[in-house]
Amino acid sequence: MDSKLLWKDEYCLGHNAIDFEHKKLFDIANQIFAIGNPRVNSERIKGLVQEMYDYMTHHFEHEEKFMAEISYAEASEHKQKHQKILEEMDKVRSNGEGFNVLEMNLEYIMQEWFAVHILNEDKKIMERIESYELKLYYRYCRPGLHS
Ligand SMILES: [Fe+2]
Repeated sequence: MDSKLLWKDEYCLGHNAIDFEHKKLFDIANQIFAIGNPRVNSERIKGLVQEMYDYMTHHFEHEEKFMAEISYAEASEHKQKHQKILEEMDKVRSNGEGFNVLEMNLEYIMQEWFAVHILNEDKKIMERIESYELKLYYRYCRPGLHS
């Protein structure tokens, strides 16, 4: 089955752990979209939406820890943007309007909030570590840092 959300190369930031987490969030969302019959699989949908909310929380915490490590100047503005996405995700989690609305809202969050956030905001953090040494440090020397 084709995935509804497509991962694009331009989403890759060059930070292995963060890229992995971003891809995993796309993957969980696609698992939700791939559910055939929402009436039969309602418990599975609930479980996956909760998993997605939890993983997103965990991922944002990692990113915020990373911003603190590199003394990123715009960390608090960035954190507010994470909060906003989580609020939207929380609305999906407490969705009472059925699978179609849930699917539509989730797709909107991932395309219009999350992917745009990666391209506009997360990329700015990476520009901060553009120096060769730091890049090497975060790519290769500490692969388990955020796992
Ligand atoms: Fe972010």
